[in-house]
Amino acid sequence: MKTCLLLCVALVLMQLQYGFSQQQPKRKKDPGDGRVRQGGKRVKPRPPKTKDPGVRGQSLLTQVLDKGHFLRLGNTTVLPSGRSLELRCKGANIGWTYPSYLDTFNDSRLSTNQIDKYGQLVLTAPSAADTGLYSCWVNLCDGRECSVDIDRNYSTYIFFSDKDNLFVPSLIHFELVYLRPDRSAVVPCRVTDPQARVSLHREVPPEEVSTNGTDVTFDPTRGFVLQSPGPELQGVFYCRAQSRGAPQISTKFQLLYVEVPSGAPFVSLQTSPDSVADGDSMNVTCTVLGEPEVPIDFNWIHPNPEPSRPVQTHSHWRLVKRGLGHTTRVSQSVLSIKDLSSRDYGSYICKAKNKYGETAVATDVHAG
Ligand SMILES: *[C@@H]1O[C@H](CO)[C@@H](O)[C@H](O)[C@H]1NC(C)=O
Ligand SMILES: *[C@@H]1O[C@H](CO)[C@@H](O)[C@H](O)[C@H]1NC(C)=O
Ligand SMILES: *[C@@H]1O[C@H](CO)[C@@H](O)[C@H](O)[C@H]1NC(C)=O
Ligand SMILES: *[C@@H]1O[C@H](CO)[C@@H](O)[C@H](O)[C@H]1NC(C)=O
Ligand SMILES: *[C@@H]1O[C@H](CO)[C@@H](O)[C@H](O)[C@H]1NC(C)=O
Repeated sequence: MKTCLLLCVALVLMQLQYGFSQQQPKRKKDPGDGRVRQGGKRVKPRPPKTKDPGVRGQSLLTQVLDKGHFLRLGNTTVLPSGRSLELRCKGANIGWTYPSYLDTFNDSRLSTNQIDKYGQLVLTAPSAADTGLYSCWVNLCDGRECSVDIDRNYSTYIFFSDKDNLFVPSLIHFELVYLRPDRSAVVPCRVTDPQARVSLHREVPPEEVSTNGTDVTFDPTRGFVLQSPGPELQGVFYCRAQSRGAPQISTKFQLLYVEVPSGAPFVSLQTSPDSVADGDSMNVTCTVLGEPEVPIDFNWIHPNPEPSRPVQTHSHWRLVKRGLGHTTRVSQSVLSIKDLSSRDYGSYICKAKNKYGETAVATDVHAG
């Protein structure tokens, strides 16, 4: 609650200030206004080669400037906060993605519309917190079936610069960052000015983390990226940024090192009901708890090579959140037998396999 209060106050403050010196994007002639200039000479525009709106590979994402001028947006765009933004993307059926922050608050400042031959996204009074990736993409529809044309997905990362918020405001004031030896970690101190000089600091003992080398790099759209970090990077850290004015400090980050034994699945087997007799139904459930992105393949061995009736198996998985940043994948395979007979008693083996290895676990089922 306190977090929201602070943030909301910050947002209101940001919206109150307009017009400090800003980089104005260069203006380009709207290609639709008849003639374009090339190297100082007036030339007739070439007729479009196809009906396809725009050339593949070239962004169709434009920013509407005033008086019918458009600016084609590249990978990154720096815009002043406070000034309303209109983006357009050519196409009859345009979809948009934008920072999830704007969805979280179900923000009425953002609206998207489809107007005849283009899609439109309007964001009024953007603030530093709206900094992020904005994409438009073309939906291909065939009757009622629609799909994303992945070749026509255009993105720009927009920095809403704000000299009072060199860091993109964070909802979390003390963020946990998990370090794992087998992957990179990110200290998410994103900035609103890509030119800002940013450094990473340990709180106790106070020291700056050297970025001279390849292990720690700064990406203004993500923060500090730590390649295969070790336990020596544990502790409380913050980022410091400086642009033209006084340096600014980010929120704090607690870096925690977690040993993750990436290995064969850890499997448990359970039979229900606990005891069975002839004619009963039975489920044998094989469960694996593991990393969210590691899929599991299940295989069963029935005690009898020729069971009396067909045996059904069914696999599924779900993700379970275990507090900040930790997610476990619960994968299960259920073997179901109806109308048990003597041929179904014996040892059931569940084999669970992931990219690291295979584990087999057995359970005995007998009448009684
Ligand atoms: C823009 O992004 C594309 C695709 O990610 C990349 O190939 C290209 O080099 C980037 N251009 C610039 C100027 O960063
Ligand atoms: C978001 O806001 C709109 C209108 O303000 C409302 O109709 C909609 O139900 C809201 N959605 C959520 C998830 O709060
Ligand atoms: C378009 O590309 C962006 C950036 O790669 C991605 O975040 C977004 O999900 C993509 N949109 C679709 C619909 O695939
Ligand atoms: C980076 O480190 C190397 C050796 O570790 C040193 O020679 C070089 O001067 C350093 N560069 C900077 C910019 O600190
Ligand atoms: C076996 O599992 C199915 C589906 O999960 C369930 O409907 C059924 O009641 C279970 N049977 C027993 C004996 O636990």
